[in-house]
Amino acid sequence: MPALVLLGAQWGDEGKGKATDLLGGSVDYVVRYQGGNNAGHTVVVGDQKYALHLLPSGILSPGCTPVIGNGVVVDPAVLLSELSGLNERGVDTSKLVISGNAHLITPYNITVDKVTERFLGKRKIGTTGRGIGPTYADKINRTGIRVQDLFDESILHQKVEAALDFKNQVLAKLYNHRAVVAEQVVEEMLGYADQIRGYVADTTLLLNNAIDDGKVVLFEGGQGTLLDVDHGTYPFVTSSNPTAGGACTGAGVGPTKISRVIGILKAYTTRVGAGPFPTELFDADGEALRTIGGERGVTTGRDRRCGWFDAVIARYATRVNGLTDFFLTKLDVLTGWEQIPVCVAYEIDGKRVEELPYSQTDFHHAKPIYETLPGWSEDITKAKTFAELPKNAQAYVKALEEMSGAPISAIGVGPGRDETIQINSFLD
Ligand code: GDP
Ligand code: IMO
Ligand code: MG
Repeated sequence: MPALVLLGAQWGDEGKGKATDLLGGSVDYVVRYQGGNNAGHTVVVGDQKYALHLLPSGILSPGCTPVIGNGVVVDPAVLLSELSGLNERGVDTSKLVISGNAHLITPYNITVDKVTERFLGKRKIGTTGRGIGPTYADKINRTGIRVQDLFDESILHQKVEAALDFKNQVLAKLYNHRAVVAEQVVEEMLGYADQIRGYVADTTLLLNNAIDDGKVVLFEGGQGTLLDVDHGTYPFVTSSNPTAGGACTGAGVGPTKISRVIGILKAYTTRVGAGPFPTELFDADGEALRTIGGERGVTTGRDRRCGWFDAVIARYATRVNGLTDFFLTKLDVLTGWEQIPVCVAYEIDGKRVEELPYSQTDFHHAKPIYETLPGWSEDITKAKTFAELPKNAQAYVKALEEMSGAPISAIGVGPGRDETIQINSFLD
């Protein structure tokens, strides 16, 4: 079992941080392969709560080496402040390894993110404003700045100037924004170089050697399947590939090396930012899910939009990721509902549709078709085995499993590490 991918099966915030942390004690490496500090992963260890944005959740497991892969976009200021925040709380971060090929989020990428959203007005994506999209745009445009550029002042200078030549025209002429001074950007970036240098290595070599040596490597996705730039609800997506294939490109590991793909699946659905969401609730049930589930963004503090479980999405996640397992989270949040509706298919223009429509227009018109399952009222947070769950909770899990296309191998019944029912091991 050398390499596993763990990713979000919905629109993010499914509980990837908790799931990664849970496995952290048994794996040798935890690798972020895409995204950046748009992520917000909450990990609860005993009475301590950690909010991680850029660092892999494995950083909290002492035996584990955390890796930031080439597919990640790194804001150096955020990186250093997250590291020092953990150090102050006694977490050893010295094992961190960062790819020299990862791209850097520069101050002007953050500026462009913010002014673009403002310019879009009511058509905005609702980004996290962290410069994610513009940094990936620079990468694809071949005008990006990489971590390794920090260590060659002359190259850094040339690249920042080249990027700003064009961007300053756009900022000034289109957005009526003052020009960014290349010299200041270079100076700020160079200020980070010495603090980051010691972490940088050839991470593809490191990870491939580790896998060949039989070490266990866990690739931790940020965001989720429906936020994937290729497979998500485009254009209301992030600018990278959280889906399983992203682990290969974002870490330089071939698909033949990956043996397991675990989809983290919330027992209901949430979304932050704009875009279609067929099962979204605007009533007291939606408010109750938000309150009981604590559905407030870890990164931006925005309220999350909430709705019932959507099996069409779960099936889609199984398909595009080749999921071998699900980790169902937050089952405890549903305790107390007499009846729990679950979306089993959509009605689109009068027709029943079982699979996620590829057409954006159809998806915007999709109305959920619900089946209602009986709820339970018993406290489930202390349950350690599937058999200890109330019969109706067991039936809810079994129904979701049948609809979603992959076995549910673990169930979250609370935010803590130990508030988990493990049904099948992820590490066989
Ligand atoms: P991530 O971005 O996928 O890591 O998820 P977030 O951390 O943004 O949001 C998930 C939230 O749910 C966090 O506050 C977790 O502590 C919490 N959480 C995770 N699993 C469970 C669970 O099984 N039950 C409950 N009640 N909370 C959970
Ligand atoms: P984790 O890893 C939920 C959403 C933003 C916005 C869209 C694009 O905690 O699950 P971006 O800043 O990435 O360009 O914003 O994606 N988004 C997330 N939503 N969880 C996340 O991360 C997210 N990261 C980005 O709200 O709609
Ligand atoms: Mg999150």
